[in-house]
Amino acid sequence: MAPRLEELCLKMLLFLCILKSSQGMEFTGMKYPFLRMASSFSTAPPRGYDYIILGGGTAGCPLAATLSQNYSVLLLERGGSPYGNANVSYLQNFHISLADISSKSPSQAFISTDGVINARARVLGGGTCINAGFYTRASPSFIKEAGWNEDLVKESYPWVEKQVVQWPELAPWQAALKDGLLEAGVSPFNGYTYDHIYGTKVGGTIFDKDGYRHTAANLLASGNPEKLTVLLHATVQRILFNKRGPRQYACGVIFKDENGRRHRVNLNSRRSSEVILSSGAIGSPQLLLLSGIGPKKDLMKFNIPVVVDNWYVGKGMSDNPMNSIFLPTKKLIKQSLIQSVGITKMGSFIEASSGFGQSSDSIHCHHGIMSAEIGQLSTIPPKLRSIEAAQKYAKTKHEVPREAFKGGFILEKIDGPLSRGHLQLVDTNVDSNPNVTFNYFSHPYDLQRCVYGIRTIERIVHTKRFARLTEDDSYTIEMLLNMSVKANVNLIPKHTNDTASLEQFCRDTVITIWHYHGGCHVGRVVDENYRVLGVDSLRIIDGSTFDSSPGTNPQATVMMMGRYMGVKILRERLGRGAGV
Ligand SMILES: Cc1cc2nc3c(=O)[nH]c(=O)nc-3n(C[C@H](O)[C@H](O)[C@H](O)COP(=O)(O)OP(=O)(O)OC[C@H]3O[C@@H](n4cnc5c(N)ncnc54)[C@H](O)[C@@H]3O)c2cc1C
Ligand SMILES: *[C@@H]1O[C@H](CO)[C@@H](O)[C@H](O)[C@H]1NC(C)=O
Ligand SMILES: *[C@@H]1O[C@H](CO)[C@@H](O)[C@H](O)[C@H]1NC(C)=O
Ligand SMILES: *[C@@H]1O[C@H](CO)[C@@H](O)[C@H](O)[C@H]1NC(C)=O
Ligand SMILES: *[C@@H]1O[C@H](CO)[C@@H](O)[C@H](O)[C@H]1NC(C)=O
Ligand SMILES: *[C@@H]1O[C@H](CO)[C@@H](O)[C@H](O)[C@H]1NC(C)=O
Repeated sequence: MAPRLEELCLKMLLFLCILKSSQGMEFTGMKYPFLRMASSFSTAPPRGYDYIILGGGTAGCPLAATLSQNYSVLLLERGGSPYGNANVSYLQNFHISLADISSKSPSQAFISTDGVINARARVLGGGTCINAGFYTRASPSFIKEAGWNEDLVKESYPWVEKQVVQWPELAPWQAALKDGLLEAGVSPFNGYTYDHIYGTKVGGTIFDKDGYRHTAANLLASGNPEKLTVLLHATVQRILFNKRGPRQYACGVIFKDENGRRHRVNLNSRRSSEVILSSGAIGSPQLLLLSGIGPKKDLMKFNIPVVVDNWYVGKGMSDNPMNSIFLPTKKLIKQSLIQSVGITKMGSFIEASSGFGQSSDSIHCHHGIMSAEIGQLSTIPPKLRSIEAAQKYAKTKHEVPREAFKGGFILEKIDGPLSRGHLQLVDTNVDSNPNVTFNYFSHPYDLQRCVYGIRTIERIVHTKRFARLTEDDSYTIEMLLNMSVKANVNLIPKHTNDTASLEQFCRDTVITIWHYHGGCHVGRVVDENYRVLGVDSLRIIDGSTFDSSPGTNPQATVMMMGRYMGVKILRERLGRGAGV
């Protein structure tokens, strides 16, 4: 008996070693001893925490992992675990989380007052658990304008990349876009690179070869399990303040657990301890307002005691408008999310998505990023779009001809929209979506760049590369277009030489690529070290502080920012001897 037991133990040990060394497999509670349900929180350390981070998203996870190397960290995330949830983990399910509007969904739908259906993450790992996975860095000018230390930026991107980023296996539709871009003059080809360079390139992805998603939550693996506590389903309701002389400082927070029970948790009494908001571009301004930092008039409307009267909280919200064109093809196109991108000098980025799933059952057909059932109903003008319309479509789509799903999209996103909007509370319930307005195309330069982007797509559509994909003997292009109208997918604009009608096309078919940002701008709501103006011991580290969205797609820079600020804070507190 004894030898067999020994053998068994050895096998177990071997298995554990493999488990430890293999990247990207399902993590369990065993690997992450610090993941806990919020209701299990009863005994905070009596002296409190060095850092309480609000939001376990794209920035919050790398930040928490880094700070926990030397300090006690409590990370509060309102959503659940991404592990063991196939809706989150697999590329082919991209549209499923976004279509799920239940309160358990990792995505919380919202519609801006502009009428564009949009989504906020609600899961550990944040946006990286529901996004399209494309990974690409910010331009050097973005880094410069942010005032970031270039050496630390150069260390922080690879820290993220080593853990969660890969090079993609180029899907057929993405290869076609790459060739089409080059043929249409968006050149040179810059190869596979994370860098932001004019021309055409293939970027990184957080999906591996099996379509398995690696998320910001994986970055928690490099935290110190002894100093890190992560609470799931912990929804922060309010930041608490205390007075030190005439100034207020953040001293703790109130959160509710999955059963609705309220808990209070405090920072310890060290001067350098901090509450850090990383709740994203909707969540961070919302929590500031709910905690009494914002325009006095708006706070008084909801009887929220004013801590700091700051008109700028929730101002300057923007979302990069996206417009796309559907191209019917003769063959089925394999599903793909973004892998190739064209970076034009005119401030318009060209990307692509194709979405025919593996299933032959038409009910499972969808168009990936442009799935009508996730609200990308761009044949309906924005003001007429609704969640109900999207759901109705999902129910009736089996009536749509299969042929209408054969094809893919080419999309266009404008960089740094000058159109600005705002965010306002609708009530004092943190679970409610605030009212958000983006004012798409209210600035004429944004519209001009959209028209330029659509014209560029038109050139790509007319390249030899795409002609080969779209020629079909059995269907005329008009028949296919009619089908795509029935299927609620985008039309090719009829008169691309006519600027006025292209402008109308941009307005009528505007959707989102979910890169909304702002609401807590540097110099207005936070200082250049992301400390909230007017109070102590409170910072905001996430996309709400951005004046424009970094790179062609932001997640790389948001994760990098979490790591960067974590290291910066450690070095400031410990000196260079911090060992980080
Ligand atoms: C569908 C979709 C596709 C996208 N595709 C891409 C892509 O391909 N490439 C790319 O680079 N970018 C993409 N993006 C954008 C990118 O993912 C986001 O910009 C980025 O993740 C935002 O990071 P953040 O840290 O600012 O916010 P988030 O990652 O959203 O983090 C905020 C976290 O805070 C939590 N939270 C909020 N309020 C509270 C509260 N009161 N209490 C506790 N927790 C709270 C949320 O649950 C969330 O986990 C996409 C986004 C979406 C939604
Ligand atoms: C995945 O999505 C489907 C469809 O919305 C839903 O029924 C299912 O419960 C989800 N799974 C998880 C683990 O949330
Ligand atoms: C939110 O926006 C809608 C649409 O613009 C508006 O009708 C409503 O009054 C707003 N609600 C609040 C509380 O401001
Ligand atoms: C396309 O639809 C229009 C309007 O519904 C119709 O007049 C036209 O005949 C259709 N064309 C084809 C080729 O089916
Ligand atoms: C549209 O513009 C292209 C080039 O810009 C030109 O070749 C074409 O003749 C124009 N078409 C019309 C209808 O004006
Ligand atoms: C900080 O943490 C790192 C990694 O855990 C360690 O190597 C270093 O010695 C610590 N620094 C201090 C000053 O405690």
